[in-house]
Amino acid sequence: MAQQSTDVVAEAGRRRTFAVISHPDAGKSTLTEALALHAEVISEAGAVHGKSGRRGVVSDWLEMERSRGISITSAALQFAYGDAVINLLDTPGHADFSEDTYRVLSAVDSAVMLLDAAKGLEPQTLKLFDVCRYRGIPVITFINKWDRPGREALELCDELVERIGLQPMPLTWPVGIAGDFHGVLDLADGSFVRYTRTAGGATLAPEERMDATRAEAEEGVDWHRAHEESELAVGSGGEFDAAAFLAGTATPVLFGAAVLNFGVRHLLDLLVELAPRPSARLDVDERPRALDAPFSAFVFKVQSGMDPSHRDQVAFARVCSGVFERGMVVTNASTARPFATKYAQQVFGQQRSTVEVAYPGDVIGLVNASALRVGDTLYTDKPAVRFPGLPSFAPAHFATARPADLSRAKQFRKGIEQLESEGVVQVLRSDLRGDAVPVFAAVGPMQFEVAAHRLEHEFKSPVKLDRLPYTAVRRLADSGQRGVVDGARRCEVLTRTDGAELALFEDEMTMRILLRQNPELALEPLVAEGA
Ligand code: G4P
Repeated sequence: MAQQSTDVVAEAGRRRTFAVISHPDAGKSTLTEALALHAEVISEAGAVHGKSGRRGVVSDWLEMERSRGISITSAALQFAYGDAVINLLDTPGHADFSEDTYRVLSAVDSAVMLLDAAKGLEPQTLKLFDVCRYRGIPVITFINKWDRPGREALELCDELVERIGLQPMPLTWPVGIAGDFHGVLDLADGSFVRYTRTAGGATLAPEERMDATRAEAEEGVDWHRAHEESELAVGSGGEFDAAAFLAGTATPVLFGAAVLNFGVRHLLDLLVELAPRPSARLDVDERPRALDAPFSAFVFKVQSGMDPSHRDQVAFARVCSGVFERGMVVTNASTARPFATKYAQQVFGQQRSTVEVAYPGDVIGLVNASALRVGDTLYTDKPAVRFPGLPSFAPAHFATARPADLSRAKQFRKGIEQLESEGVVQVLRSDLRGDAVPVFAAVGPMQFEVAAHRLEHEFKSPVKLDRLPYTAVRRLADSGQRGVVDGARRCEVLTRTDGAELALFEDEMTMRILLRQNPELALEPLVAEGA
């Protein structure tokens, strides 16, 4: 037993479980592949594949799993890097940006914020960053696409301070301007890492490291400029401070080009060195569940087929304590029912051996998991444990929901209850609108499509959704002030099932005007609540 608990703690200590937060097109898929290229198993396979097989494989992790024989699910990519085990969790973006995207962040220990050098902070990145901040997740920043024209490095650093109050701590500084990029000054030892372009960028770019004297002779004015700028950035509060990173008030910054695989090894090294390892997770009563306690995990994502005739629901759970062994029977804390995990391997394809066993920080994919819901806790043995359930995130899209077929009103109500309990959409109501006309609220519009599809096919009660024009949402701090909002135009208050009173406005301007007219009105920003 003592031996086993040492193993669990040591294995957990090797894990780095993180997600990339970015706006679509910043280069997340490219970075994912570039990171994976550094894992031994993939760099060999990459060489076999060559350039032609490169794109396309990137975005389809399952395809990558088949061809490269590494352990990938549609939710997580796992690979070994040196002695570390890296778990990279996918944060779905683009059209499928939804509450699921945010929930992934409840399963990571750190995040990499990927910025496009020409664009800086973009809307989706900001939303995801808010969730990281709320959850206290430390963030490393990687400024990507430095190989092509973009903004000034100093300007991008300033933007972090000014817009999100996050202190940048540059660890490298670009030499040569964006678009005419020569490499980076490594601020840890003052050396120069020259970037060497390789054909196609499909292989690891060779790094040529040289000392400052040679760099100065060869890079001249660009070298001096990099020094001056980085001193300015470091001088204005950007000195490296690991505690500030862990506290979420400062972010280490690296510059690179994922497509050329430049700066990516540095990022991996940084994750291994600096990113938090899995630690004891707090249960609902805020008691920490020690890493070497018996197995426990929580479900952070459930992927169900849109077609109910295919029972292909997969639940993804993050291991929080103990050892997962495939085939073990676990208890679902929400229902107190047992759940057999013998099918866990199917999700992981060829690399069965790597998922026969999983440790804290790892993600397991459980198939045939129709009994599992997002937020469920799984555990074995005593003591029983339950982790905090589903958090609710600030919705950005709203629609009224009416049954298209009134004779199915009962099924409609039941369906809505079910979808809400699974976190498919949030459900809001008000006396003014009446109980029969709930309002669906979602982080991404695709959640409406999923809800509509399921109401029609699973509950045989098609829904008529009418979009509402609201774009700004705040929490009403004092319910006594409800009338102030309800009495004004282009806004209203709706109550969420968890009791939160949400004030919805057509736009920020409407809200600001109302606040000016009613200075006593207390509105709070809304990021995430409940877990
Ligand atoms: P995403 O997953 O965040 O949406 O982004 P993705 O990796 O698909 O990258 C978006 C585009 O940005 C791609 O170009 C990709 O090649 C490019 N890109 C990613 N990293 C870098 C970089 O470091 N430098 C430069 N110059 N470009 C980068 P695309 O035109 O959409 O695709 P492709 O035709 O190049 O494959």
